[in-house]
Amino acid sequence: MNKLKRFGYLVLATLLIIAAMQSCAHEVFSDPNGRICFERDILPIFNSKCASSGCHDANSSAEGYVLDSYKHIISSGISKGHPSSSKLYNIIIDGEMPPRRSPKLTTDEVNLIRDWIADGAKNGINCASVCDSSKFTFSAVISPLMNKYCVGCHSSSNASGNVDLSTYTGVKNSITQNQGLLMSLNQNGYYPMPKGGNKLSACEINQVKNWINAGAPNN
Ligand code: HEC
Repeated sequence: MNKLKRFGYLVLATLLIIAAMQSCAHEVFSDPNGRICFERDILPIFNSKCASSGCHDANSSAEGYVLDSYKHIISSGISKGHPSSSKLYNIIIDGEMPPRRSPKLTTDEVNLIRDWIADGAKNGINCASVCDSSKFTFSAVISPLMNKYCVGCHSSSNASGNVDLSTYTGVKNSITQNQGLLMSLNQNGYYPMPKGGNKLSACEINQVKNWINAGAPNN
């Protein structure tokens, strides 16, 4: 009888542990088909537009805010499910941040952050790529890539490393300036970019490569 009881407790404890593990696993989830995926769609915006040197990177942490990871972003004034009561969202739509001449978020970026918070501000990783390396015009692909990943630190008012990626001419110049554009994206040796952020997907890097090989047209 005693043995049976002990066995019962053991089974119960095991089940509880499994249940607890499953509820934790929901915090970070692989999100191949998610509409908005944190790692793919949200983190690059914060990295480029907020976490630049002197602002909200780990070294500077202006006003105590570090906006370089899910953990840090989520604890910086996000109310899951409620964009309008999320401080981080409000200071963006108020125009308070990014400050002064720093590149603002685009309307699309602001709306993505709003919808991500409304969806519960989940930590989606391993997201499916929505990229097609056979498409690489400057206007539809290259310029939006630069805006998403780079322009926060490489605009005319904040041209880190003397590189301005906010215009066609600037992007074109960065190809020949020490072959910098592609080498930095490949993250092997030369200044790895986007600084502090994840490497672009192989498909996105191929889009840039294909565009350069086609003569980097302004199309
Ligand atoms: C968070 C800020 C930040 C982001 C985002 C960022 N960069 Fe940079 N980048 C810098 C800084 C700062 C430097 C100067 C070198 C250094 O301190 O690492 C630099 C240097 C460079 C250089 C080298 C310039 C030289 O000296 O030859 C290239 C090329 C470059 N970045 C391209 C990019 C590209 C392409 C992206 C987007 C995929 C990007 N960067 C995103 C901050 C950033």
